[in-house]
Formats: sequence, structure tokens, C-alpha cells
Amino acid sequence: MGENRFRGRSLAVINDFSLEERLYLFEKTKELKNLFKAGKSEELRRFRIDDSEFGVYEVFLESSTRTKESFKNAAEFHRIKISNLDVGASSINKKESYADTFNTLTGYNNLVFIVRSKLEGVCRWLEINGKAFAKRNNLPVPPAFINAGDGKHEHPTQELLDEYTFLEKNNWKRDSIHLALIGDLFHGRTVHSKVQGLKIFNNVQVDLIAPRELALPFHYVDEMKANSYKVRIFDSIESYLQQKHIADKWYFTRPQLERMGDEVLKIADILRSKISFRQEFFRYLPPGTTFYHPLPRHKEHPTIPIFLDSTPLNGWEEQSINGKLIRIVLLGLTAGKLGDDFHWEIELEKHPDEPFIEEVAIDNNRPVKKYTEGVNPISHGIVIDHICRGETRKEIRAHMVRIIRVMELFGKGGEWITASRENPDAMKGIIFRPDREALTESEINKLAAIAPGSTINIIDNSKIIKKIRLHMPPRVYNLDSVSCNNDNCISHPSHGENIPAEFFKISENTFVCQYCEKVHTFKEIWK
Ligand code: CP
Repeated sequence: MGENRFRGRSLAVINDFSLEERLYLFEKTKELKNLFKAGKSEELRRFRIDDSEFGVYEVFLESSTRTKESFKNAAEFHRIKISNLDVGASSINKKESYADTFNTLTGYNNLVFIVRSKLEGVCRWLEINGKAFAKRNNLPVPPAFINAGDGKHEHPTQELLDEYTFLEKNNWKRDSIHLALIGDLFHGRTVHSKVQGLKIFNNVQVDLIAPRELALPFHYVDEMKANSYKVRIFDSIESYLQQKHIADKWYFTRPQLERMGDEVLKIADILRSKISFRQEFFRYLPPGTTFYHPLPRHKEHPTIPIFLDSTPLNGWEEQSINGKLIRIVLLGLTAGKLGDDFHWEIELEKHPDEPFIEEVAIDNNRPVKKYTEGVNPISHGIVIDHICRGETRKEIRAHMVRIIRVMELFGKGGEWITASRENPDAMKGIIFRPDREALTESEINKLAAIAPGSTINIIDNSKIIKKIRLHMPPRVYNLDSVSCNNDNCISHPSHGENIPAEFFKISENTFVCQYCEKVHTFKEIWK
């Protein structure tokens, strides 16, 4: 298609790369691995960026060995400039914002940032912020941000190397995978990336093995099912082995019990025993079973015991070795060194803006509905009708208070709750504001965001002269009154980063935060 599709691309979540893009990346990784194995160092040159001015910056606000060092080693392969922010001695400790910190480093000709943080959605925010910075400062290309793990959200580069490793083991067949996910599925970001990542396989069976305290959050289970994965849930390896259909790929994750408070720490040994492999389990494993682990493995409480290192179950060492190769190729793509021969279909926009404001024709044959101000008919003003139709009186009342606050509909008028004309069993709210001028376009958009399903009636000379029906908008943004309720989200007000919240509708009453992807009901997005 002419341009390089990968140059300058950020990778905040695994879905930022399409299936085709990931398969292309795996193809290149396979080529690279074969060249390394064959010792063809001359041919490796076509993978190498070889530009000492090309700047990659590692910013790790949480500890790491594999991710950080494999990127460093990958950068050394490329012969590019790799820097590492000394976070402990940086001005982040003087409460400098992420935006200012990364803008500063971008200004020093760094094009790619590898970022690990306990805050979720950091790379998505930095990508947006970095584009604006580049535009303001006439930089030829905006910086790219690669998520090296953000809280308990995602770890997309680990997902890439995991998928590559599974495919390698499958002799590159993508027809099916049967994978047991074992351990801390609640915190495990490498597991969370699999919810979308495993779509690389046509038929997916996932067995989730974790005690209740470490179980995969429901919304991820629902997403897996929506992706047509077959999902089964077990609370321990022991209970899993009591049935016959056992996975040939086991993926262990480290229990992060230290994050879970004293009550859980008291039962730490019991929880660990439910997700740790034992010698007596051997005989239940299907032939060819392989174990994987993103590592690190706890030296005192390993869930994969050390004695398994020298058995054919050991797939985690090859998995770790693949990490550097995947990251060499990823950097090569981000730099535009690789990817010129990738072909793709034109895609539909990810979040197409669907219309949500509908002007309704006024039916002159229908009896004229009279809105009243107390006992007097309203002669001029606005009436917002059908608010929260079908909800309880309490819910309607609470939401009308919210609407009045957000829309600043203070002053003359009132509000009441009544039965719907179309369905007398359903209640609805009405806000009337006599003498109020018609709403501006931006106010109507805002009202659609807070009162979808309602109708605005504009009244003049005691007649309804305009009727506007409001539907749920596809995006809710640019409003002070919304915020993500995940306190680990980079946009959460408690972090003081001044990031405006933004939500995308994924179903009629469900929105996700564009940064951390936390799922909210419509009501939950309002402060
Ligand atoms: N797998 C992984 O992310 O390991 P590190 O924490 O050592 O980077």
C-alpha cells in the first residue's frame, strides 16, 4: 500500500496489532531465529536498524528483568541508542506529570518508549499526548509507546512472545489450542492479554484454574465467551485433574498475594497449594504436555517446581528466549526498518461515530400534549421528557438531580415523575424549564450523554415547535462530570495527571474507559 504500516505505531494493548499484523511479526521472528541458529550473521543485517541516532527510552516504574533486559539486548542488536530513565532520581518524585516527563524525553529525539507502570492505560494516554506534543513542536514523527505491563491491565509484548511460542510448539498450526491458565488470574496481566490475544487460534478452549480469591474477573470471562472460546473454571489443579479432558499446554502465573491484604496472606499456603504442580500429578498429563510461565518464578514457593526444569515439560525457557527475538522484530517494525512488504486490507474505522441526535417530526394530527408549569400550561421554554423510562422512582429521581447539576439547569421550573403514556407500568422523569432558551448544539450533545433515551421538547406560543430524541452516544468525552472509577487508571482524578476521561460504548448500557479499558455501566461513568 505504499507506506509502512508499522512505523511509529504504539502498542498499548494486544488488540492494537491486528491478527494479520501479529502473524507477519511472527513470520519475521521465525526468519530471524533461523538466521541466528544457522549463524548467518551477514543476513541479520536486513533486520538491523543500524542508526546510532535512533533513540529508545526505557521507563520502568516497576521492577523487571526479562522485559527490560530483553528490550535492551534487542536495542543492542539494532545498534541504536538505548537509554534508561533513573526513575528513583527523576523529577517524577517532584510530582512532575507523566505528560511533562515524556514530552521532555521526546524533545531529546527519542522515538520509542518502553513503559512499565502500576497505573493502567498509561501508554494509551502517552500516545495521545505525544501526538499533540509532536504537532505543537513540528516534530516529523510522533513518539511510539510500547506497554511493558500496566498494573493488572495488559502486557502485550509478553502476549506476542507467548503466542509465538505456542505457534512454534503447534508447528505453526492455528486451528486450535487447549490452554490451562493457572495461578493468579486476577492480577495476571499476561493472562488478561490472552482474552483477545488467543483469537489468533480458530478454536480456543481455556481452562481457568484458580481459587476464588485469584479468579479471573467476570468481565474477562464474558469477553472470552463472546470471542467463542470454550471456558471451564476449576478452583485447583487437583480438582482439574479429576476430569479427563486435560489441556496439553499449561500456563502458570505468579501469585501476587502481597497485593491482597492480611486476610489473604493468612491463607497464602492454602492458595499456593491449589495452583502449584506436584510430582503426584504427573500421571494425569496427556503426552506432549508443555508448561509455560512468563516468569519470574518465586524461589521459595515456585508453582512450577525446580525439579521439572530438566523434563520435557519445560517450555518456559524457550518462551523466555523468544522474548528477545520478538522484541528485536517489534523494534524493527516500529522504526520502519521492517514491514515494507506487509500488505493489508483497508479497515473500517474502529469507533465509527453513529448519529445519536434525532429530530422527530411533529405529528399535527396527534392531540397536542400540554406540558404544564404547576396548573398553568407552559407557553415558552423546554421540557425534557422520558428520562430514565422504566427505572425505579428512586433511580429516576437521583438521575434527574445529576442531569440538573451537569446541565446547570438551575432556576425556574420543576421536575416530576409520572407514568409513561405508552406504557402505564413504566415510570419516567420530566424536567421542565419555562422561559429557558432552546439548548445549543453542544448542550444537546451533552444532554444526550447524560440523558440518553430522553426527548427534548421546545415550546413556543404554547405549542411544541421542535422535538429532539436523544440516543446513547458512541463516545462520552470532554465533560468534567465523567471519570473512570478504576483508581489504578492513569486518568483517575486521584493521580492528578489532569487527563480528561473518555469512554466508548460497547453495548447499549456498557462503556469502556479508553485508557484502562475498565467496563462501566452508563451510570457508573458519572462522578
Ligand atoms: N515476564 C515478565 O514480564 O518478566 P519481568 O517482570 O522480569 O519483566
